[in-house]
Amino acid sequence: MEMKSYTFRIQRNRRNAEGGVESRWQEYKVEASDTTTILSALEEIKGHQDGSLTFRQSCRSAICGSCAMKISGRTRLACKTHVAKVAKNGVVEIAPQANQPVIKDLAIDIGPFFKRVHKITPYLQEGPESTKEVTKSSFDQVNHVTQCIMCGCCYSDCTMAEVSPEFAGPAALAKSFRFVSDPREGHKKSRLAQLAEPHNAWSCVRCAMCVESCPKDVAPMEAIVKLRTRMVAQGLNDGAGARHALAFHEDIQKSGDLNEFTLLQRTLGIFGAVSELGSALHLMKKGKIPSPFPHKADGLQEVRAIYAALEAHPVDVETKAADVAPE
Ligand code: SF4
Ligand code: FES
Repeated sequence: MEMKSYTFRIQRNRRNAEGGVESRWQEYKVEASDTTTILSALEEIKGHQDGSLTFRQSCRSAICGSCAMKISGRTRLACKTHVAKVAKNGVVEIAPQANQPVIKDLAIDIGPFFKRVHKITPYLQEGPESTKEVTKSSFDQVNHVTQCIMCGCCYSDCTMAEVSPEFAGPAALAKSFRFVSDPREGHKKSRLAQLAEPHNAWSCVRCAMCVESCPKDVAPMEAIVKLRTRMVAQGLNDGAGARHALAFHEDIQKSGDLNEFTLLQRTLGIFGAVSELGSALHLMKKGKIPSPFPHKADGLQEVRAIYAALEAHPVDVETKAADVAPE
């Protein structure tokens, strides 16, 4: 098997006496074939070049989630990633997961990530909404989210988690979709109400990074969109997130274009909009204040025809796969 030489540029981190983290980059040379994984390369470095290099691993089979780290700019499982696929000009850059506290080198403290998962009550509860019947169809609805291995890749690449440490994050929200959708769950409505609160389902900015980086095709953002649809269907429209989405819906249906001039007030209410006056003045100075006169988009008839078609035949965001199990 043909071997090639690669440069591994690895972020070395260590905690100092003041509790901060000191970082530096260190380079290693590794010979790798087309099938060598990043994890094998790291083991080669640790075993033969530098025993002080610290990283986590366990199953080597993309099951335990412990080897998640930033590899060539994206968070991936080291045991599932081939060196040849991610090297750029023969160089592989490796760093610990982002949005999580670093313990040493590539090992992070996964505690804050699990704290978010625990917050959504990650188990079924008996209650008035429980039913005993679980059809294959109802299982198919949540099957993709049950594939989650809690690796944290989605949380590490989440752009919202980067700016808002309070955000529940993609994995916790995807997991909550599983409990909101399970026929055996007894408190679906109160779960939805909790998820409609700030820093939960409406805080996602739909950057889709979680969909890109998830190694198990959980597609957390899709679960978040489904949660939002269910909240609106339940009349949980009181928060800024729901109001913002409904304002978009109303404007596009009416004029095919967004009325940005009134959007802030409709999203945050009068008092919320007043508290944002500073930002508005800043925008005004930069000549970015939208026109107060609503604008009608070209092709409005087509937009309305799409709305009419959707109202006649609503798109069902739920998965209702046909039951194909043997009798
Ligand atoms: Fe990992 Fe995907 Fe689960 Fe996020 S949703 S923790 S990326 S398996
Ligand atoms: Fe378990 Fe990579 S070592 S997922």
